[in-house]
Amino acid sequence: MVRVLILGLGMVGVTFSVGLERIKKGEVKPYGVPLADVDLGIKIRDVEVVGAIDVDERKVNHTIYDVAKSFYNMDSVPETLRGVKVYPGLGGEFVKDLFPVYEPKGGHKNILDAVYNTFRELRPDVVVDVTTTQEGRIYDTWEEYERDVLEGKVAPSQAYAYLALKYAKEVKPVAYVNLIPTPVANNPVIVSMAEKVGAIILGDDGATGATPLTADILEHLRERNRKVYSIAQLNIGGNADFLALLDEKRNRAKEETKSSIVKDILGYDAPHFIRPTGFLEPLGDKKFVAMHISYESFNGAVDELIVNMRINDSPALAGLIVDLARLSKMALDAGFKGTVYEINAFFMKRPAPLGSKNTARILAYQQLVDFAKKISEKKTP
Ligand SMILES: NC(=O)c1ccc[n+]([C@@H]2O[C@H](COP(=O)([O-])OP(=O)(O)OC[C@H]3O[C@@H](n4cnc5c(N)ncnc54)[C@H](O)[C@@H]3O)[C@@H](O)[C@H]2O)c1
Repeated sequence: MVRVLILGLGMVGVTFSVGLERIKKGEVKPYGVPLADVDLGIKIRDVEVVGAIDVDERKVNHTIYDVAKSFYNMDSVPETLRGVKVYPGLGGEFVKDLFPVYEPKGGHKNILDAVYNTFRELRPDVVVDVTTTQEGRIYDTWEEYERDVLEGKVAPSQAYAYLALKYAKEVKPVAYVNLIPTPVANNPVIVSMAEKVGAIILGDDGATGATPLTADILEHLRERNRKVYSIAQLNIGGNADFLALLDEKRNRAKEETKSSIVKDILGYDAPHFIRPTGFLEPLGDKKFVAMHISYESFNGAVDELIVNMRINDSPALAGLIVDLARLSKMALDAGFKGTVYEINAFFMKRPAPLGSKNTARILAYQQLVDFAKKISEKKTP
């Protein structure tokens, strides 16, 4: 069994929980789970959500079932989720501009302890971070990072990652999967400590809709030696994530993870604008994406590529979490520590370790399948 703890029970966390249980019941097929047809040894039915952590007063101390039904008005919510609780988290002050925040009792130290006790109680193998995007920095030293965690000055995701490392040291090996742009797996001090305590840190920022497609189109152009003049990619959505990204600091974190693909794949930095561009409520979770790429081809010919899409945002990431949970457990069982580039390269917009290149997902997919087959045969690195 793979015990999964969700940090941030928003659209993605809820969609993952509901979709996973519906696959297990045979109500839906595992479409959108990239490795559903690859024999990994760990089956989808082995993945189990054991709890969620949130800071929204309207979600804390309810169950995932309640949140899916009453907060998100979802139909077809499996009864099994009635038994899975939402526990209070930390760092609510970073999002109090967005919604009513649950105020836990005690000072910062007590809150850290309480969240750590939730980890101990739920005994996760995999902690999945799908909290609201926060600005975070890259630390030079462990001491500086630890001090900021203890004083409550870090982005919440970086504080959760600290607790996961402590848990790996004191309780059992764990994988921390950071699907948001805040740098966690791209923080070398965090990854080095993971190597020491037997944890795996994957991240950062899940690559879902337009970014992997852009990466593959750029690879296509590069392989044909077409010179890219400019890339414009607009994203407009109506969910809470897009609302949160209206804040310039949060959006900057997102932009940084999205833009790194251009130079990595083309080998030069073509002028580009790639970032969440706006919030339009009626679009809901189904975002509108438009892409325009202009490039030079043989004999000076100039071509243009235009793509328009409407993409369901949350299911795109939720489907990836099913595989990330299974791959994380496999990697832990095979003795991996630190981070795993082969997994990050396919699933993340900014694949760790820090300084790693983005590759086209078509290439990363082959690498991932080879890697998964290798570790499912239990070969240690
Ligand atoms: N396709 C995608 O949807 C996609 C792709 C890549 C990355 N992401 C990232 O995934 C994250 C989740 O997306 P979403 O659409 O579910 O957003 P959301 O706003 O619906 O959900 C975020 C959840 O995190 C909770 N939260 C905020 N701060 C917290 C904290 N300190 N501790 C615990 N919980 C906290 C919020 O209460 C909310 O329930 C976002 O950061 C987004 O940028 C999403």
